[in-house]
Amino acid sequence: MTRTIKRIAVVAGDGIGPEVIREAVRVLGRVRETHDVRLELTHFDWGADKFLSEGVTLPEGALEMLSRDFDAILAGAFGDPRVPSNKHAEDILLGMRRGLDLYINLRPVRLLDERLTPLRNRRREDIDFVVFRENTEGAYCGAGGFLKKGTDDEIATQEELNTRRGVERIITASFEYARDQGRRRVTMADKSNVQRFGGDLWQRVFKEVAARYTDIEANHQYVDAMAMFMVQDPAQYDVIVSNNLFGDILTDLGAALQGGLGLAASGNIHPGRVSLFEPVHGSAPPLAGKNVANPVGAILTAAMMLEYLGYAEAGRAVEQAVQSAIQSGETTRDLGGTLSTEEAGASVSQRIAK
Ligand SMILES: NC(=O)c1ccc[n+]([C@@H]2O[C@H](COP(=O)([O-])OP(=O)(O)OC[C@H]3O[C@@H](n4cnc5c(N)ncnc54)[C@H](O)[C@@H]3O)[C@@H](O)[C@H]2O)c1
Repeated sequence: MTRTIKRIAVVAGDGIGPEVIREAVRVLGRVRETHDVRLELTHFDWGADKFLSEGVTLPEGALEMLSRDFDAILAGAFGDPRVPSNKHAEDILLGMRRGLDLYINLRPVRLLDERLTPLRNRRREDIDFVVFRENTEGAYCGAGGFLKKGTDDEIATQEELNTRRGVERIITASFEYARDQGRRRVTMADKSNVQRFGGDLWQRVFKEVAARYTDIEANHQYVDAMAMFMVQDPAQYDVIVSNNLFGDILTDLGAALQGGLGLAASGNIHPGRVSLFEPVHGSAPPLAGKNVANPVGAILTAAMMLEYLGYAEAGRAVEQAVQSAIQSGETTRDLGGTLSTEEAGASVSQRIAK
């Protein structure tokens, strides 16, 4: 079957971003040889260098161009010690997440090799879940303010925004995913025992949506308890749904369970629209330019993107190649291996089979 071509905007960004994205792009090149995958990649230089030399973060018209001309965005990381305000990163990354209304932050937590988890006596199947983090509102809406700033009487307020529409669409997406992927259970994490208003809305909407998916078990945990259970008994989780702040924290815990930030992948998704795929890690300035960063997070991110674009088989082939490389000990130093970024990328790429 001949497929239509999928257009990818590649924004490598700062620090280790360009090094890990180079390996993800290498893997996409390999997949084009082994599978019926048609991709066209266009590179954009948005990041700290451009901001420092031209004062430009996310160029004018970029969001319209991305929506109109692209199917997906593959991004590295943003953050540079020369920009302490982090303005460019905020404009580019949050600009795309919010401006493109990418309301699902999807983060799989999957153990690829038993040796990678810091937990004792866990098998691969014990750590295999996905987190749906709300990505456009909550505590990240920027609402709040100061009164009497800089004085002893200073007051700072930090507000959290929860819209019915926003809560309903992320919860619905988590149940849809569970049904689609043959997962049994959706667990919602909140703190509704103390956050009485936002938490109440999440509770009501969760029950309403769950009632439409009688084939999926719906359960609830307070987020503090969930943090504990994720360590004690991660096997109970299939799909987790939570707000922006709790999802952010839980997914870093999840990344640690699967072997570290260098392995974690994510998608910022609005189904049916251009969506953004990026490794969970940041720009890791101390590692930048040294060819030591782990490219696997970026490579697994590319696999997620392939799946989103309708190339599920190719995405699975990439995951299998990553797993095989890790099981053979062909890894970067953060996972106990000796390979450089480039060598680790090449090792995965060579293992991708038709
Ligand atoms: N999505 C993003 O673009 C994003 C996310 C987080 C942080 N940041 C930015 O990145 C910069 C550094 O932040 P940070 O140090 O808190 O987080 P970081 O993720 O860059 O690094 C955290 C730790 O993980 C290690 N690490 C990260 N990625 C790795 C990889 N691929 N291979 C091996 N080790 C890896 C780092 O060496 C460091 O010890 C900051 O400017 C921050 O704002 C950006």
